[in-house]
Amino acid sequence: MYQDIPIKVTRVAQSRIGQVDFNNLPFGVEFTDHMFTADYIDGEWQNFQIEPLKPLSIHPGNMAWHYGQAIFEGMKAVLNPEGQPLLFRPDKHIERLNNSAYRMRMPDFPKEAFLKGIKMLVELEKHWIPKGEQSALYLRPLMIATDVHVGVRPSKTYKLIIMALPVGPYYNKPLNVLVQTKYIRGVEGGVGFAKTAGNYGAAMYPTELAKEKGYDQVVWMEPKEFRYVQEAGTMNIMFRLKDKVVTPMLTGAILPGITRDSILHILRDWGIPVSEQKVDINELLAAYKRGELIECFGAGTAAVVAHVSNLHYEGFDMGFDASSWELSKKIKQAITDIRNGKVEDKWGWTMSTAGALEEVVIS
Ligand SMILES: Cc1ncc(COP(=O)(O)O)c(C=O)c1O
Repeated sequence: MYQDIPIKVTRVAQSRIGQVDFNNLPFGVEFTDHMFTADYIDGEWQNFQIEPLKPLSIHPGNMAWHYGQAIFEGMKAVLNPEGQPLLFRPDKHIERLNNSAYRMRMPDFPKEAFLKGIKMLVELEKHWIPKGEQSALYLRPLMIATDVHVGVRPSKTYKLIIMALPVGPYYNKPLNVLVQTKYIRGVEGGVGFAKTAGNYGAAMYPTELAKEKGYDQVVWMEPKEFRYVQEAGTMNIMFRLKDKVVTPMLTGAILPGITRDSILHILRDWGIPVSEQKVDINELLAAYKRGELIECFGAGTAAVVAHVSNLHYEGFDMGFDASSWELSKKIKQAITDIRNGKVEDKWGWTMSTAGALEEVVIS
């Protein structure tokens, strides 16, 4: 039913695209001209529209700010060799947004409306998609509570917004990472698997402490014992142990990354043994000392694959140099090529925006 919903499109009078330096696109700074929005009122989603991106006017008593009903997604669109925008696995992103919504007692957003809206937005903003291989149009769906109310209960109204940002590469160097053995991020039964704002707020203090010591990121560990690896700040984490790849299993405490899932598909397709399991840091360290831990890399939409040059655990540095990044480089290229429409998309991961604005009246 939602594939037929009307989405009103109102264009900006004057695009800002001419003011943007596409040769210098730090991550998260530039926004395109338009955003997709919808409102949840009286128990249903309504007011689906694409409109000029502008600040919202929000009452200080807005519940999202007080009680944290705020969830989001991060995904990418790029141009294929024919110059047509392609979205990467948008169906998985709306599925995860709705899983986050469920845990935070927020309403489901209809998948068909999401796919229709995001395709229209990207088609409308296609001139904003940067052309470099590691550049993209980053898409940021966000859902927040909008009731004005003081007192803890779920909001009755919500807003969904999708913003679009042209971005360059997320990291421009390999990462020096600290295994965190004091603070925790996620716990089974908690909200680690949900992409909810509070998870990132809670991570800031320990992450900044690590940065003050010269690290780029932290690796979170399972609470209490601090023995099993969970994930890195904005990425899942993978290890190559000789010819096998291991990654922490999904326990509900970590984010089920879509890049992680894509990499696991690709590795299994290549016949490389992969294991989703409990990853014991002491075993990693022992394997490193035996020369069997060859590569360590992060997996996430923003960086796709981020090479780890150093993993620090309790006074010991596990260093990896560029000569060892053979598999992670190959994986990064494979995902980039599928995402950019350069090779066969055998799993049907990409979605074209072609035709999304046909028969749409734009005012
Ligand atoms: C905490 C965390 N883990 C993992 C990921 C990787 O997820 P994905 O590959 O879906 O971007 C992200 C990024 O969204 C993240 O914020």
